[in-house]
Amino acid sequence: MKLTDNALFFIVYPMDLEDLGLLELKEKFALHFEDAGFSLIKQIPGGLEIECPLSIGLRLNTILRTPTRILLRLGEFKCRDAPKLFQKISKFNWSPWLIGQIPEIESSSTNSRLFDSRKIEKAIQDGVLQYYRHKPVKKKYLEHLAASNLLNLPKIYFRSVDDVCTLSLDTTGERLHLRNEKILTGLAPIRENLAALLLTELKTHLKNDTYTLIDPMCGSGTFLFEAANENAITSKRDFSYLHLPLVLDDKNELKQLLVINPKNSFANFLGFEMNAEVVSQALKNCEGTNIKIEMGNLFDKASHKINPSIAIMNPPYGIRVGVRGSGEEEINLPYYLKVIEAVKNKFSPEILGIIVPADYRLKTNNSFTIKAARAFKNGGIDVVFYVLEYAQ
Ligand SMILES: C[S@@+](CC[C@H](N)C(=O)[O-])C[C@H]1O[C@@H](n2cnc3c(N)ncnc32)[C@H](O)[C@@H]1O
Repeated sequence: MKLTDNALFFIVYPMDLEDLGLLELKEKFALHFEDAGFSLIKQIPGGLEIECPLSIGLRLNTILRTPTRILLRLGEFKCRDAPKLFQKISKFNWSPWLIGQIPEIESSSTNSRLFDSRKIEKAIQDGVLQYYRHKPVKKKYLEHLAASNLLNLPKIYFRSVDDVCTLSLDTTGERLHLRNEKILTGLAPIRENLAALLLTELKTHLKNDTYTLIDPMCGSGTFLFEAANENAITSKRDFSYLHLPLVLDDKNELKQLLVINPKNSFANFLGFEMNAEVVSQALKNCEGTNIKIEMGNLFDKASHKINPSIAIMNPPYGIRVGVRGSGEEEINLPYYLKVIEAVKNKFSPEILGIIVPADYRLKTNNSFTIKAARAFKNGGIDVVFYVLEYAQ
């Protein structure tokens, strides 16, 4: 196997937002890998399977902002019992992928005779050890293993459906939403990759790139941070793929192709937050960026019209931030309608993207038209991201 060979990858996304992941994938391929394409093999709930050169698929970890993680498909075979699984694993060629570690295993099984996760784990780990006995790991890799942060060594993902087993290798390590840039979080922050997915939806409704993006309840500033960094490369963290023998042998090959061509969908970024402590955290997160954060209460009467602008927000809801929002309000449908009106009166944006619990259904009315409604789970709560166009 060489880094230039084609390989299959499964890119994991939050459920029901895979199509937005595909949009980002197409944009980023056009931006960074003009000469190379990818084939979409399948889109299934929870992810996209694609084929592309190995060197590119691995680097998608640093380029994509929307996935949860990226798995490399290693193989597929029929297997019904642990001894056979051990055999298969011990005969598999692990030399491009493992550096002498006993890999951690993530297993799942549906309608299969192999279903006991402890037996699966043991068969795979014993199989890898058997492989090492026959083909000892080179000293340089063992030295790397001794020096590495064990947290991000690649895990083996094993999945069995109807006795057909799929073997994958995690190329990511700690989830991809951890960018290692924005460190402080406010109350109930949205995960960075979810914010990037919702921004991808919002961006499909923009007419041009002159808008100011406003988050009227910005918390730690995740939406603004993700929007301002939509084309950023995640370079300050460790990834599992950096510990593969194939990559350790040829790190330059992985650096060469990267073309950085930052172009942003928004012109300015502006956040408001009523909690002083959260404002000071958000300011620290946004140091050195062109994001502006101000202290402000959406419901005060001061007008702050910004033309042209687009708003995005995740108002308080559910038990994570208590049942009371700004201190006095019950959080229910009238609260959300009041928020939507207040955003219009205060900032006059053309469009508002807003997360609302699925229990409260918005309907087009005299004030706004629903342009999109995307259902998903945020922190275990069923919510809908609405894109509303205000009547002018
Ligand atoms: C669910 S959190 C938003 C989290 C944010 N998206 C993030 O990722 O950090 C809601 C935020 O709205 C703020 N908030 C609530 N009512 C507000 C109001 N009337 N005006 C401004 N901010 C408000 C809360 O202090 C809280 O930080």
